[in-house]
Amino acid sequence: MSTKKAVRIAITGAAGQIGYQLAFRIASGQLFGKDQSIILQLIEITPAIEALKGVAMELDDCSFDTLDKIIVTDKLEIGFKDINYAFLVGAKPRTADIERKDLLLGNAKIFSEQGKSLNMFADNNVKVLVVGNPANTNALIARENAPNIDPKNFTAMTRLDHNRAKAQIAIKTNAHVSEIKKMIIWGNHSATQYPDISYCVKRKRGPISIHEEKIIELVNQEWYREKFIPLVQQRGTEIIKARGASSAASAASAAIDHMRDWVQGTSDNDWVSMGVASDGSYSISEGVVFSYPVICNNGEYSIIKNLDIDEFSNDKIGLTNNELREERSAVEELL
Ligand code: NAD
Ligand code: LMR
Repeated sequence: MSTKKAVRIAITGAAGQIGYQLAFRIASGQLFGKDQSIILQLIEITPAIEALKGVAMELDDCSFDTLDKIIVTDKLEIGFKDINYAFLVGAKPRTADIERKDLLLGNAKIFSEQGKSLNMFADNNVKVLVVGNPANTNALIARENAPNIDPKNFTAMTRLDHNRAKAQIAIKTNAHVSEIKKMIIWGNHSATQYPDISYCVKRKRGPISIHEEKIIELVNQEWYREKFIPLVQQRGTEIIKARGASSAASAASAAIDHMRDWVQGTSDNDWVSMGVASDGSYSISEGVVFSYPVICNNGEYSIIKNLDIDEFSNDKIGLTNNELREERSAVEELL
């Protein structure tokens, strides 16, 4: 048995590919550790309730020490009741022939309804992570429909992009991924995102000192601009092509990383990327949910400010900002 008071965690789309990974990882203590009890509030649409009951049966069968209770529901007033954390995963995923933008309107309605329900039923301090695509604009819609919840509590997932970018740099520089620090993903979780290595370092801990090398000095510019950036931007599409389904285990893993770091703090003089309400930093349109480099401390994130941005980066950041502004205009009537 765990010792702390149980926290309530909702997952929407819990019978889907990502939900099926996420529920077990959270229930087993991989989010908040072995001494934190968890009540899982699993939400699905009505046709998927039978499948969700099967997920709950399997969760029971795991006999997790950290899992206190499972709620299975297709009603948001039950699923969001008193929750402390929300993983908003449920949405229609993109298939090989659909662009993300085409999903925008269909999924937007789901997130306006969920924003309203979070406002009414969740704990006022609920921390919300939107995974369902288009994640940034869905987070914006949910936030705008939840006036009683601090806008800072609505975030979108770009941690998968961040992790993908780190992994590619580690491979290229013959490092372990844990040695790659200060990666940045700017902007939208889409093909306009900008994986930026301007501040990225390879940090090795020796027996008495720490040795840091700048990644921009270890890789050539052509590889960075022509290979690395498109690879990270298109990684989701490549996975859909290879698997015939969008990334799931890696997405669930990134969702755990995002929420854990937000709640427990970032460490080791490192940054992570989170889609958060823009405060106008770096001339980004205020209010759009934009991925920034952040640090987290005491359950709060802070955007890393005053970085020098060169012309190349400025153009890339501008492009992804424009896309997010267009997405915001397309869903205006739901805000
Ligand atoms: P999936 O189709 O396997 O599962 C989605 C589940 O959501 C389904 O079980 C469906 O019944 C449920 N659902 C649909 N509408 C719902 C609603 N209104 N309320 C509750 N549940 C609902 O999809 P998946 O592979 O798990 O992906 C889920 C979402 O995550 C997709 O939008 C996908 O594009 C997105 N995604 C985001 C990232 C990211 O990095 N941000 C990465 C991968 C996938
Ligand atoms: C991903 O990044 O793997 C997903 O968001 C896939 C997608 O739908 O683009």
